[in-house]
Amino acid sequence: MSLAIGVDVGGTKIAAGVVDEQGTIIAELRKATPANDTDKVAALISSMAKELAAEHGATSIGIGAAGFVDDARSTVIFAPNLAWRNEPLKDRVEQATGLTTVVENDANAAGWAEARFGAARGANSAVVLTIGTGIGGAIISNSQLVRGSNGFAGELGHFIIRPDGRRCGCGLRGCWERYGSGSALVTEARELSTLDPNLGARMLELADDNPLNITGLHVTQAAKEGDAAALDCYSTLGTWIGRGMAALAAVLDPDVFVLAGGVSEAGDLLREPTIKAFKKQLTARKFRPEPQVLMAQMGNKAGMIGAADLSR
Ligand code: BGC
Ligand code: NA
Ligand code: ZN
Repeated sequence: MSLAIGVDVGGTKIAAGVVDEQGTIIAELRKATPANDTDKVAALISSMAKELAAEHGATSIGIGAAGFVDDARSTVIFAPNLAWRNEPLKDRVEQATGLTTVVENDANAAGWAEARFGAARGANSAVVLTIGTGIGGAIISNSQLVRGSNGFAGELGHFIIRPDGRRCGCGLRGCWERYGSGSALVTEARELSTLDPNLGARMLELADDNPLNITGLHVTQAAKEGDAAALDCYSTLGTWIGRGMAALAAVLDPDVFVLAGGVSEAGDLLREPTIKAFKKQLTARKFRPEPQVLMAQMGNKAGMIGAADLSR
């Protein structure tokens, strides 16, 4: 049985696990991500991987990183929401661990896990969206990840959904992830509660009466209680996501879309407004089979499992 290590590097935590060929996690470690210090991040990934490899004997390491990863699967060229700029992550981790390492885009890794073992299993063509701080994308075609000529295909968070819209960490304006991500949900809730404290009362109550303290979890809790303002925020979010998916369906015509990432854990709160907007905007709707819209099945371990699998 061949074991591989999968590492998911997020803005707040690094999760590393030993994964078998069936996508089962055998052992796992979690540490806080050293803020704004890419040297420390590389060192911590290496020490976590070494510890796991020493105990379980893994043969390779796959790292899922939230940014543009080059075609050689070694360097994080640019991370819109993190500090990486031309970061030679593969070389650093290989030198420190002595294990063959590949670096993958985080959403490609998570999407690959859904395609191999989860919601998109068996689909010939799929688009997996990881909805969290940003929007990540994985495009699967003929059961393979589409990488593009530089490795940057599937950067779906940065297609322009609203010209001249909100500023984005990538330097442009109006990117999809500024409207359809967890951050956008929070932006919406804070704006609403600032402008109309009566309407936003329940979310404000959960956030010590300060709109700037409102988090995604507060919005979700209020929405689950049936709070109209929080439901409205989810509806706005889903509308943006659904519109973007319809645009992608016009380009890619996939069998299935999978909604993944932390925000997808809200389930129907997200799925319903998303599907509604998606259907409304889908071109030739009455004349075509509609792509399925499914919720992710691999949970927050998808990135780790996918990265491990892609390192084999
Ligand atoms: C980045 C992607 C990443 C996504 C999700 C985007 O801002 O450009 O590389 O996959 O966020 O983390
Ligand atoms: Na991607
Ligand atoms: Zn952008």
